[in-house]
Amino acid sequence: LFAGETEFVKGVVAMDGLPPADRMEVCFAGRSNVGKSSLINALTGTRNLARASNTPGRTQEINYFTLGDRGYLVDLPGYGYANAPLPVVEKWQRLLRQYLSGRQTLRRAFVLIDARHGVKKVDEEIMSLLDSAAVTFEVVLTKIDKVRRSDLDRALDVTRSALSKHPAAYPELVLTSSEKGDGIATLRSIIAGIE
Ligand code: GTP
Ligand code: MG
Repeated sequence: LFAGETEFVKGVVAMDGLPPADRMEVCFAGRSNVGKSSLINALTGTRNLARASNTPGRTQEINYFTLGDRGYLVDLPGYGYANAPLPVVEKWQRLLRQYLSGRQTLRRAFVLIDARHGVKKVDEEIMSLLDSAAVTFEVVLTKIDKVRRSDLDRALDVTRSALSKHPAAYPELVLTSSEKGDGIATLRSIIAGIE
């Protein structure tokens, strides 16, 4: 599906910098450091296409990648924490919200939740924003290689009950490890099925 058909298009810092809305796109949202960029690399079978880093706040623009010629994969800046001056952070956060609620061609959002931390208040806010904008979203638990099975089961219960309150959410969760490859094939086929 993705090998060789994904390349970086551009980094966007304001709504008027978005590429023409002429094909579908899917985006990856989540708290800083949750593993958005790493997941894009795992999905596309590349090591460093989307730049990942241990420093929260690594991705500071809306980064566009091609999905063959049928669409775009969009890597978003994280929310909830960033190691940058407040006015700068507020600017990304405003852009993020404008993008999530105002992009005509956004077909699906993937909301990433760290399996170790579960759903936080900021995640709830983003999910409510997606509900209001009628953007359907899937919740992806990340870094499952870092949690014990018993803790994972608890995280699943808590996350499922949080999701049940969001009309735009798919009830199914996707469990992933970008490190070990869990859930990557599942996500690829979900993306392949989006028109
Ligand atoms: P921002 O751009 O800052 O919002 O972060 P991000 O959500 O893009 O996170 P990123 O992909 O940069 O990953 C953050 C850190 O988590 C990096 O050190 C990654 O190597 C690590 N990481 C990401 N996914 C996984 C995973 O599935 N398992 C493990 N063990 N580590 C992961
Ligand atoms: Mg990133």
